[in-house]
Amino acid sequence: MTTLIIGAGLVGAQVAKILADRGERPLVMDARPQRDVLERIVDASAIDLFEGDVLKPLSIAAALTRAKVDAIVHTAANPLLTLGAQRNPYAAIELNIMGLANVMESARIHGIGRVVVSSSSVLNRYQSGGEDGADLSKEEAVPRPHTFYAATKQAVESIGLNYARSFGIAFAALRYCPVAGPWSGPGGGGPSGIFRAMLEAAVDGREAVIPGTAMEWVYSKDAAMATVQALQAPDLGRGVFNITMGRIYRPEELAAELQRAFPGVRTRIEAQPEGSTWSGGDWKPADLARAAKHLGYVPQYPMARLLEDYAQWYRALRGR
Ligand SMILES: NC(=O)c1ccc[n+]([C@@H]2O[C@H](COP(=O)([O-])OP(=O)(O)OC[C@H]3O[C@@H](n4cnc5c(N)ncnc54)[C@H](O)[C@@H]3O)[C@@H](O)[C@H]2O)c1
Repeated sequence: MTTLIIGAGLVGAQVAKILADRGERPLVMDARPQRDVLERIVDASAIDLFEGDVLKPLSIAAALTRAKVDAIVHTAANPLLTLGAQRNPYAAIELNIMGLANVMESARIHGIGRVVVSSSSVLNRYQSGGEDGADLSKEEAVPRPHTFYAATKQAVESIGLNYARSFGIAFAALRYCPVAGPWSGPGGGGPSGIFRAMLEAAVDGREAVIPGTAMEWVYSKDAAMATVQALQAPDLGRGVFNITMGRIYRPEELAAELQRAFPGVRTRIEAQPEGSTWSGGDWKPADLARAAKHLGYVPQYPMARLLEDYAQWYRALRGR
């Protein structure tokens, strides 16, 4: 079995590690491979890392000549995700939608049976409208995403599912919530960076700034494990899965977890700036029932274990 992983960042690197640890030699393609950063997650000699752009179909075609590929994991992302897409919608629309189309067309042409892509829990949250309550005879039957990033992720899911239906490609879209996890280069979304600054400050004995909004998190290792489970699941059901820790943390609860993990740590809760794309609002934690049933996904890293594991990695990195 050989998997082509497109996008070697916060999540893609962990997917590569799981597959490498299982004895596979995944192909790992990134437009700007960060070899040094990646090496702190996965042994670079255990993967085939190379430069390639998902927006260039010939890059994907060239990648597929390196080995007989059975499945593609697509995690390429625009910088800063939601925030980045609000600042530069065209680039995010191009990368997320045409990138997905290139991946699905490549799978179709080259007879690759399975594609797993990263969607986002923004679809559980950044939607409004739907006042016609699923009555399809009316215009406002379903809610609409109200950020560019969420709009592209909705398109990614719908386009992927149509390729699956039309061409018999097994397709899964995984809705990760904000991902926290070991990473020392640029990458991840705004919340990933805020979590990273918080964790590093706590370990270094500096004041840890906690985002002043309730958040649902997932550890990058759990997000990656779900991705690998989606590569192997015999029945992908409807193909779209929530992948989170399964609960929402209010700022005070996250502060309490930090206090437990790093006794004596100084914490400060900081409100997100007015108009921040990820602050405020009430929403329910993601329902993980489908992910459990079809993928066998059960989060392995509740917050306490996440903090312990992440801190251990960061201490080792800092000690270098
Ligand atoms: N990080 C989060 O909090 C989060 C939350 C929900 C969903 N997601 C989704 O998960 C996926 C992975 O996110 P991440 O946090 O690992 O992102 P990341 O920024 O850490 O990694 C993305 C990688 O894609 C690469 N890339 C960008 N453009 C490319 C292109 N044209 N061709 C090939 N590679 C390209 C980048 O160089 C980077 O290494 C994305 O689809 C993202 O939308 C992430």
